[in-house]
Amino acid sequence: MISIVYDVRRYRSLLAEAVREGDFVIEIGPHTGKSTLGYIEKAGKIILVDKGRDCEKDLRLFADSHEKVSFACADARGFEAVKEVLKETRKCDVFAVDMGGGRHVDTVFKVWATWSGIFKPRDSVIRNRELVEFLSRANIVDDSVKKEFDDDGWLATWGRETPYQLRKQLEEFSYWIDIDKPLD
Ligand SMILES: C[S@@+](CC[C@H](N)C(=O)[O-])C[C@H]1O[C@@H](n2cnc3c(N)ncnc32)[C@H](O)[C@@H]1O
Repeated sequence: MISIVYDVRRYRSLLAEAVREGDFVIEIGPHTGKSTLGYIEKAGKIILVDKGRDCEKDLRLFADSHEKVSFACADARGFEAVKEVLKETRKCDVFAVDMGGGRHVDTVFKVWATWSGIFKPRDSVIRNRELVEFLSRANIVDDSVKKEFDDDGWLATWGRETPYQLRKQLEEFSYWIDIDKPLD
């Protein structure tokens, strides 16, 4: 299942509900680990990815004090982060993304779509306000589009290439303009 939320408390509880006994979990943006604590007992292996300098020390300590937890201090928009995680696991039952609920939807969606296309999780939990609003506002008005899907946590009809081919999608981030910067 793919679940999308905005409220951070709901994100934490949803993630805790999604994880089953012995699951492998990849979590992007745990910050200090509040969302991780909700499922740590049940999980078999947890890989945390966060680029924040403010939480790097806490997350290193967190990983050092829990054998099943690994931490990659890396930017999830880059393939280096994917490579670091691939060294730890190729298996992922639950994939969670919280890069900040108000983060630009295109960034969050692209990170989710690319990573989930690589790791093919059973369940995904995504936190993003714009994505929630988009799905609430939009109507699908095209009868040619498939509406019934297998219940899995990734776009199985879309992200089907190998990790190194999916890499191209992440690398496109480097070519994006920053909309907040003034034009030259
Ligand atoms: C709102 S906090 C997450 C809160 C946490 N899930 C909780 O429940 O307490 C967002 C986190 O995403 C991280 N983040 C934002 N962009 C990122 C990126 N491109 N790669 C990795 N981490 C990122 C930030 O460093 C921050 O720690």
